[in-house]
Amino acid sequence: MTEHNLKSFLVDKKKLIDDLLPLQIERLKAPENLKESMLYSLNAGGKRIRPVLLLATLNGFNHGDERGLDVACAIEMIHTYSLIHDDLPAMDDDDTRRGKPTNHKVYGEALAILAGDALLTYSFEMISSIMHPQVTAEMKMKLVQQLAQATGPEGMVGGQTADMDGEDKALTVEQLEYIHNHKTGDLLTFAVVAGAILAEASDKDIEYLKKFANQLGLVFQIKDDILDIEGDAKTLGKPVGSDTSNHKSTYPSLLTLEGAKQKLNDHTKRAKEYLSNVTMNTSLLEEITDYIVSRDH
Ligand code: IPE
Ligand code: IPE
Ligand code: MG
Ligand code: MG
Ligand code: MG
Repeated sequence: MTEHNLKSFLVDKKKLIDDLLPLQIERLKAPENLKESMLYSLNAGGKRIRPVLLLATLNGFNHGDERGLDVACAIEMIHTYSLIHDDLPAMDDDDTRRGKPTNHKVYGEALAILAGDALLTYSFEMISSIMHPQVTAEMKMKLVQQLAQATGPEGMVGGQTADMDGEDKALTVEQLEYIHNHKTGDLLTFAVVAGAILAEASDKDIEYLKKFANQLGLVFQIKDDILDIEGDAKTLGKPVGSDTSNHKSTYPSLLTLEGAKQKLNDHTKRAKEYLSNVTMNTSLLEEITDYIVSRDH
């Protein structure tokens, strides 16, 4: 896959997801202010990297997008809920997200919390209601179980809790890795594994893809921490210096910026090694890995 092809894949799939998400909300019979608040954060944009990872995995196993779209949207909804809650005054207390005022700044804390709750719950409804003929009940059950595990107490919520508890403390690299693996890595990993489940990949391929995505999750969050220092708030669409003002433990704070960049390269290399063991066309996932390393937002 050439750089040009990757770019068009990213642009095309982002547009597909951008167009689909509002339709999923508009059809709901729910209070209008709740729908508006959910739509506000979903429509604010975002890179849609998790849906793109799912669709790229399907593509690598020679499947089209169709069977993956509901799960891709569900993942983006859960991710968006996690950002709405992450920005709340009780958590990171940030005022901008995806280039706009944060959800609670516009709708107030109560509705922001409820919009997050609604996006989370609805995502499971969407997966359990998939109508695609190639997606079996067994596949849906596996997807629901693994998504719940990736985002619940053993996954994202556990990671967010450890991240919060780690404020004002000097953590070890192992403790920091736990936080990154769970607050960010698990959902990203689920996106790749969900693509493989939907493609009916072998257990062995899924194992290697899991290892690949776990490394990619670390890469993603280390880069996020680096951008919190080196990035540009306007390009990022969110504040810089949020980690510093919240006294977060991050790779740069623990290992210096140079040390964090070294870790970024180490984990990128390991990610690609795992990927090379998978019996699929891995070029898109490889390119996305490079994009995640070099991204500026
Ligand atoms: C930000 O995620 C939060 C992290 C887990 C680091 P993204 O960088 O994917 O945010 P959007 O979706 O593009 O806004
Ligand atoms: C957020 O990590 C992870 C989740 C929302 C689960 P950060 O707090 O570093 O994300 P940003 O920097 O606010 O996007
Ligand atoms: Mg946070
Ligand atoms: Mg934050
Ligand atoms: Mg961050």
